[in-house]
Amino acid sequence: MTAQEQARASADRLLQALDLVPQGIVFADASGALAFTNRAAATYIEARHGDALVGSAIDELVAQVIASDEPASRTLELFGPPRRALQLRAVPLAPDGGATAGVYLVVEDVSERQRLEAVRRDFVANISHELKTPVGALSVLAETLVGETDPATIRRLADRMQSESGRVAQTIDELLELSRIESGDADDGEQVRLHEVLAEAVDRTRHAAEQRDAKIEVHPVEPDLVMVGDRRQLVTAVSNLVHNGIKFSDPGGTVGLSARAAGGGVEIEVADRGIGIPASAVDRIFERFYRVDQARSRNTGGTGLGLAIVNHVVQNHHGTISVTSHEGEGSTFVLRFPRPAGVEPPVASPQEQ
Ligand SMILES: Nc1ncnc2c1ncn2[C@@H]1O[C@H](COP(=O)(O)OP(=O)(O)O)[C@@H](O)[C@H]1O
Ligand SMILES: [Mg+2]
Repeated sequence: MTAQEQARASADRLLQALDLVPQGIVFADASGALAFTNRAAATYIEARHGDALVGSAIDELVAQVIASDEPASRTLELFGPPRRALQLRAVPLAPDGGATAGVYLVVEDVSERQRLEAVRRDFVANISHELKTPVGALSVLAETLVGETDPATIRRLADRMQSESGRVAQTIDELLELSRIESGDADDGEQVRLHEVLAEAVDRTRHAAEQRDAKIEVHPVEPDLVMVGDRRQLVTAVSNLVHNGIKFSDPGGTVGLSARAAGGGVEIEVADRGIGIPASAVDRIFERFYRVDQARSRNTGGTGLGLAIVNHVVQNHHGTISVTSHEGEGSTFVLRFPRPAGVEPPVASPQEQ
């Protein structure tokens, strides 16, 4: 192979390697004509409809860099679907400090980065708000308490201070729980008996049920019905659902709890005959801090983190969650977990046989 052939072969390899780069890479010559596009760039440029924007944005940016001999960048919003944000950055190639010999341009899809950034911002804003409200109330209550001499009023103010500080503590507890569960450290090797999970969830919600005179009706679960996962997380998820069932029903309501083998995996169902969830809100209830009725939730004492926690537990276990709800009639939440490879199918429950 001659030196020239070797040089060509190595240049070819380099260009092939550029096709593996997820960012779009473009070289334009001094006239602005595209001399090279890697595969990702070609996909952006050739793409149909809205993406025709990308090709013209590249041309414009290249022309601008050639004219100014300065680096330039811009962000392009593509309204999709899917909605995307592309960042274009271009620098002049100037050999030996002479006139622009061409332009090197990179196209990067920054949608995910922007989305995460927005989620993070919202989250911080929400936490601040959720904590500020009760802390603000505490401060006002304390101020009122000073100089108050009537024992009954003092008693009432102190009770309210206690409930507001309980609210702060609950928000912090749930945030810590959410963060622990989100970090995904699920203990995933354990065989978990579902009837034990349900029994423990009932235990944990007993107090809340008594307070609202609610009944938790556990349907018989096959004692051998098992799944593999993190027992503690599963109990938390089921408790949160039962707790909601109690809270969002009139006093004296009934929450039904059952588990069965289904579709090769297992499912857990929590059903209430409570106020239900408006269809427009069903998609949002798993968001952190989302509550259908903020005003009502202040009385029921929710943080809006419970279902976000449930959702993460389900994700950690590769499961799915479905909600059926009708306003005024009630809601049913079903968690479905697949059977992990290499594990015997769970025992079918009597209903299935
Ligand atoms: N079983 C249910 N019945 C009616 N609405 C519910 C039910 N479960 C959840 N929701 C709605 O979804 C919202 C989010 O639930 P969650 O994350 O558990 O928050 P929280 O219970 O702290 O309010 C609740 O505020 C409520 O509006
Ligand atoms: Mg809840």
